Amino acid sequence: MNTPPHKAPLSEDTVLQATQEALHRHAGQKGNLLPILHDVQHTLGHIPESAVPVIAQALQLSRAEVHGVISFYPHFRQTPAADVVLEVCRAESCQAMGGEQLAAHAQQKLGCGFHATSADGKVTLEPVYCLGLCAQSPAVMINGRPHARVTPAKLDQLLGTGA
Ligand code: FES
Repeated sequence: MNTPPHKAPLSEDTVLQATQEALHRHAGQKGNLLPILHDVQHTLGHIPESAVPVIAQALQLSRAEVHGVISFYPHFRQTPAADVVLEVCRAESCQAMGGEQLAAHAQQKLGCGFHATSADGKVTLEPVYCLGLCAQSPAVMINGRPHARVTPAKLDQLLGTGA
């Protein structure tokens, strides 16, 4: 499996640079807090605590306001994801083809819900809404790589957790 970028601890310089670049890219846009947060997470893999005051100051918001938005949307991560990010499709076609059972299996196997990381810290579980593989449902994505017609057994195999 591919390892996502930025798994090494982030330096404060890296966080500051990525945050300032995100602020710059969306400068002057109305309602730019969400695009900025998406941008930072896309670059760094999560939104580090130290990015919050930089964003708040630049947008003339309070830290609490920025925190409030980050915690309102489950998509935003405040801590780094595990080395393996498993996204299980929760959209209609996959749900009709066993996606619900697959999602339940993933949660049971990992011992965590969606938007969370397994107790051993190895896998972060996220929902995704259609991967364009509806004809081969149910589908998952592991570290950005799509897999189709995934059964619980195949998922175990993909994750290397055993049957
Ligand atoms: S609904 Fe799951 S890939 Fe389209």
